[in-house]
Amino acid sequence: MKNIVILISGGGSNMKALVGAAQRENWAQRHGARIVAVISNKADSAGLAWAQAQGLATAVLSHRDFASREAFDAQLAQLIDLHAPALVLLAGFMRILTPGFVARYEGRLINIHPSLLPAFTGLNTHQRAIEAGCAFAGATVHRVTAELDHGEILGQAVVPVLSGDRPEQLAARVLSQEHQLYPAVVARLLARQAQADALS
Ligand code: GRF
Repeated sequence: MKNIVILISGGGSNMKALVGAAQRENWAQRHGARIVAVISNKADSAGLAWAQAQGLATAVLSHRDFASREAFDAQLAQLIDLHAPALVLLAGFMRILTPGFVARYEGRLINIHPSLLPAFTGLNTHQRAIEAGCAFAGATVHRVTAELDHGEILGQAVVPVLSGDRPEQLAARVLSQEHQLYPAVVARLLARQAQADALS
């Protein structure tokens, strides 16, 4: 069975969508994979209690307790490696990761970003899309590389930018698409992997 670990910082709505899809679509039986743990860098992440109630292992690791990014990432890696994951999914995990951490999980580390990459890497994506006059916005699931919000694009969802949109209105429209996109992309990766394993 392949283990999946999810990292969050906030509300965890993408994490909930992933866990829900894994249950509904029975990823364990279909793909030989299961979500086993949710780790947050914030103790007050709303999603943690929910994840625990689903029977998942949860952990909090506050970056504030570490003197450097390297020290935080090293401890984070230890927590993750307890589960020997085949995939590590960043779902609203608001920390920039060190190159060493990214290298350790090369090929296994996936992120969702609320823009149509390569446009609008970084923060405030919805406001910047509105200000730039974009007709469309969206979200991207991509492999994580050492360069922020780069890496192979695995899937995208597109929504219209409506006239008079405020950033929070656009964000809500994009987020509801993220909840479809992220589980669909992960399920596709798992299916592809299971097929490759069967052939090898
Ligand atoms: C999402 O928009 C995600 O793309 C971005 O942060 C937000 C997290 O939302 N990286 P949630 O915690 O999954 O609700």
